Amino acid sequence: MQAKQPIGVFDSGYGGLTILKKIKHKLPQYDYIYLGDNARAPYGTRSFETVYEYTLQAVKWFFAQGCPLVIIACNTASAKALRTIQQNDLPNIDKEKRVLGIVRPTSEVIGNYSKTKKIGILATRGTVNSASYKIEINKFFPEVEVIQKACPIWVPLVEYGEYENEGADFFVKKYIDELLQNEKDIDTILLACTHYPLLKKSIEKAVPEDVQIITQGEIVAASLKDYLYRHPEIESKISKGETLEFYTTDEEEGFTAQANIFYGEPFNAKQIHLS
Ligand code: DGL
Repeated sequence: MQAKQPIGVFDSGYGGLTILKKIKHKLPQYDYIYLGDNARAPYGTRSFETVYEYTLQAVKWFFAQGCPLVIIACNTASAKALRTIQQNDLPNIDKEKRVLGIVRPTSEVIGNYSKTKKIGILATRGTVNSASYKIEINKFFPEVEVIQKACPIWVPLVEYGEYENEGADFFVKKYIDELLQNEKDIDTILLACTHYPLLKKSIEKAVPEDVQIITQGEIVAASLKDYLYRHPEIESKISKGETLEFYTTDEEEGFTAQANIFYGEPFNAKQIHLS
């Protein structure tokens, strides 16, 4: 019989830790491996081909560790690489394994949050240009108008720890104002980049009081719980030892110091190389 194995959680850098935190809280019984491709982050300004190539390398690495299920906890990689990996690569690599993203589970529910049916999406340039959120949300909520705004400076602000200061407040307000200028009836803003929850305090200062800010962690965690309930053939392959391991493609001391801010608990990471 095959040994039971952990769930893999992937992001271009630190952002996916905000998703892992909520998944671990909702589903504490499983084992998890996290990988941040910090050496090559950010992904948000990279081409489709590059994001696809990097994400596929990461997926193969998780499979080599034995993970039966990989969560792409990065909107940019989910938007640009996931479909090709699911449809073209997975059947050739291993038909028994699964790779899930975070755009679809978020799109399935986000329409329920809005009364005005006008939703603002803040994301990387890559996610915005892919139009994945517009397409997916309108499949589930055809009446919802999706207004997107790319915020290219936000990921570097977060990756370099510059997110609770006046500089961050300035760049947050700039993009929020631009979003709300386009459509005044927006009552719900989705932070469709896993790095952005770290800017939530600045974002809350910049939006009118009646606009709600939605982050993805709890949505993704609830969706994963439901998925595992509906797919016992996958669930039964996941090991239940309550362990967590962290890996980065960058040097480990830097990752460990910074990642602890995102995850909220200290841990040690190990460096690996993707190719
Ligand atoms: N965390 C990624 C996302 O959710 C973006 C970060 C990056 O640009 O690498 O889109």
